[in-house]
Amino acid sequence: MNADQWLADTRTSYDTVAVSYADQLRESLIKAPYLRAALALFADLVRASGGGPVADVGCGPGHVTDHLQGLGVEAFGIDLSPGMIDVARRAHPRLRFEVGSMTDLDLADASVAGLLAFWSLIHIPDDAVPTVFAHFRRALRPGGPLMLGFHVGSGSRLKTQGYGGHPMNVYVHRRQPDKVAGWLRAAGFRVEAQMLIDPDESVPGAVLFARRQSVLST
Ligand SMILES: C[S@@+](CC[C@H](N)C(=O)[O-])C[C@H]1O[C@@H](n2cnc3c(N)ncnc32)[C@H](O)[C@@H]1O
Repeated sequence: MNADQWLADTRTSYDTVAVSYADQLRESLIKAPYLRAALALFADLVRASGGGPVADVGCGPGHVTDHLQGLGVEAFGIDLSPGMIDVARRAHPRLRFEVGSMTDLDLADASVAGLLAFWSLIHIPDDAVPTVFAHFRRALRPGGPLMLGFHVGSGSRLKTQGYGGHPMNVYVHRRQPDKVAGWLRAAGFRVEAQMLIDPDESVPGAVLFARRQSVLST
């Protein structure tokens, strides 16, 4: 499938579910102590590296962006789906949200102090991940922290409905943390920590912390 097609399908899918996704996930961090701890650590890392704007890439309805702002981080959101961005802007009118794709990230070089991609990389096929990580590295300041959250496992599944039975047409890619860490190193990141969440569930979650290296190693 060509890139335009899977991006278009992902955009349409999340436009369709944006309102119900927001309704279902709005309070989700309340019941996620490990994710809250990971986000608090990320906020500390951003502060310790000098602070500044932080991009939440694939922000969805903006509840995580808002949580980061509550932790004292200058967070703003970017999402492929205009429907999600509409919902995010209405729910969090004081925050900045823009439509955009991580495959062609519209951020100036070294313009962000930190970058978060929380369960959004799951929709990027393997062959596009190096391009996405090159954009993340380019947009981050040297030394800036990166935090990724994703489903652990292997293979790709076509999700045809979700969030209350709405039609979707989106691939979800599960990955082993080592595989993602390898892509990060190749893109010029140093991987600093890894959390495995719900290892007893059928689909655990992983959170990786990495940092933009000043120079690309060869
Ligand atoms: C499972 S939701 C996660 C939303 C939010 N980060 C959260 O933790 O609830 C995946 C989000 O990634 C967005 N997304 C998918 N592909 C994207 C891309 N190429 N660029 C930016 N956002 C993307 C979708 O539109 C959707 O809002």
